[in-house]
Amino acid sequence: WKTLDDMDLAGKRVLIRVDINVPVQDGRVSDATRIERIAPTVRDIIAKGGKPMLLAHFGRPKGKVVLDLSLRITLPALEQALGCSVGFVETLDAAEVMTDEARAADVLLLENIRFHPGEEANDPELAARLAGLGDVYCNDAFSAAHRAHASTAGVARHLPSCAGRLMQAELEALEAALGKPVRPVMAVVGGSKVSTKLDLLGNLVARVDTLVIGGGMANTFLAAQGIDVGKSLCEHDMADTARAIMAKATTQGCEIILPEDVVVAREFAAHAAHETVPATECPADAMILDAGPLTVARIATALDNARTLIWNGPLGAFELPPFDAATRAAAQKAAERSRAGALISVAGGGDTVSALNQAGATADFTYISTAGGAFLEWMEGKTLPGVAALEN
Ligand code: 3PG
Repeated sequence: WKTLDDMDLAGKRVLIRVDINVPVQDGRVSDATRIERIAPTVRDIIAKGGKPMLLAHFGRPKGKVVLDLSLRITLPALEQALGCSVGFVETLDAAEVMTDEARAADVLLLENIRFHPGEEANDPELAARLAGLGDVYCNDAFSAAHRAHASTAGVARHLPSCAGRLMQAELEALEAALGKPVRPVMAVVGGSKVSTKLDLLGNLVARVDTLVIGGGMANTFLAAQGIDVGKSLCEHDMADTARAIMAKATTQGCEIILPEDVVVAREFAAHAAHETVPATECPADAMILDAGPLTVARIATALDNARTLIWNGPLGAFELPPFDAATRAAAQKAAERSRAGALISVAGGGDTVSALNQAGATADFTYISTAGGAFLEWMEGKTLPGVAALEN
């Protein structure tokens, strides 16, 4: 794929697919990270004489106009992050009849592209209409690159295309973590269910040297070894799958770290009465809500040896203190090693970043991905349609 450095943009209309699918609270953007992260791309395009138009989705309106899902709400945050004026274009029809004079704003933002049924269907007709709005296509939406939609994939067939700065940074960081990593490579995978991360675990055991499994999914692995996990969240029907993953790890030379001690409680609530017990001794009426200090110490030792770390998912019930302790401790250790220049650390996916943020660890990580689902699919080893479209 090409980058902005390869493109001549002087006087050209540049369609930039961005992901500004940001959280909103009380009518305002509550976390502008994704908006801030596209700023270098937009600035570079303007500096090269290009005229940017942003294409983006917001929520899942399923091909209908849903007023609550208008991208208009992002305008103040966009103007602030980009440091220039942003004009809003309500419809594709309006965008198509816009003259150069009408493009008074520095940057234009087209209304939620998912208001069109053709977007998610990757309708060739919509892709061609979008292509008509630009001379060059720049995809800066790594976090939407797992979707084969008209604005992420289809449009690239019609125009000279390149990756934006954020897309470039995401792909370079992920390549450094899993493509050609400095070894030993360690992965931390947490979260509640094995069933949602099956392909990911299967791919990782073939690629990393050490795999830490935490969160609810670790219970399934413990149970698969015949350990009674009491009332813990556990997918008993995934026991065979868990055993197969462990067997694959053994043949691939990947060490799996599971909790050896656990923090258990009788209710799933913040500050619930709790105790720490060996992982083999979860009381029948209790549930495992976090990994214990012995496990954290083992993870810390593994982090001392690792040169590359890829992290997805919390190690315990992170949203309920004190069951955030293992995630915090491991995240802080990873941050410390990264700060010392001893570790390349990459994190992403779903609630991972907010968990690491709360642990105060993100500033020291080498790279924090803006992607949720796309990060997971990339970790699963899948080809992302939005990236593939730039390659063709
Ligand atoms: C995300 O928020 O992860 C991306 O914007 C993709 O959104 P989607 O899951 O609705 O396609």
